[in-house]
Amino acid sequence: MKTVRFIAILLLLAVVCHFTGDRKAESVSEVKNEETKENLSADTEPESADMGRVIDPDKPMIALTFDDGPGEHTDDLLDILEKYDARATFFLVGTQVNKYPDAISRMQKMGCEIGNHTENHKELTKLKKKDIKAQVEKTDAKIKKITGENTELVRPPYGAVDQLVKETIKSPLILWSVDTNDWKKKDAKKITKYIKNHVKDGDVVLLHDIHGFTVKSMKTVIPYLVEQGYQLVTVSEMAETRGVKLKAGKKYFDFKNIDS
Ligand code: NI
Repeated sequence: MKTVRFIAILLLLAVVCHFTGDRKAESVSEVKNEETKENLSADTEPESADMGRVIDPDKPMIALTFDDGPGEHTDDLLDILEKYDARATFFLVGTQVNKYPDAISRMQKMGCEIGNHTENHKELTKLKKKDIKAQVEKTDAKIKKITGENTELVRPPYGAVDQLVKETIKSPLILWSVDTNDWKKKDAKKITKYIKNHVKDGDVVLLHDIHGFTVKSMKTVIPYLVEQGYQLVTVSEMAETRGVKLKAGKKYFDFKNIDS
């Protein structure tokens, strides 16, 4: 009789243990499910190099901008930017977009910014309203086919902006504060020297990645700026970090003053 009672107690204990164990297992699997859900939602976001990117607002920063591309040297430039974990902004010309779709995808993956430099580099102040619109919209549509996104910034060719251009373009107009005149210098060393002597915190630097000499200069300029403590950021990153809300139809030259 004692043995029977003993066995009965053992059985009871076994059953209780079994259920407690199950409950524990269930709660563990709930946690796992939550984790999986989080991972899934992270995975469904667009691929980006920006995960975990931190820009220190107290450290100096520069926005390198490259116009008129993409071109045959763009990929080499992306190699340099990638090597130093640097970002840049590319203002693309519509007629070049479909020639280098892979470079554009790579810019996007690297966290570089892609802006609009019109369809075929017309001086917008000489165009009618509908043509100004078409210059921007055509390029935007081409870029969107590759990146899936509309561009947010426009760089007007030659920096030509008047009232009609301001009213017509529904994007911030990004000009520059340091004009390297790289296309005129045609010499990597001269471009490098000019940048070293002229850039300061908050500058937007105008360059052209369609030129081999410009990209060659970046092999020296980019590591130099990084070594000097500059963060190489996109135009939008710099605006955001400096507390500037970019507005459509407004011109921006640099981000040195928070009130600009
Ligand atoms: Ni241009």
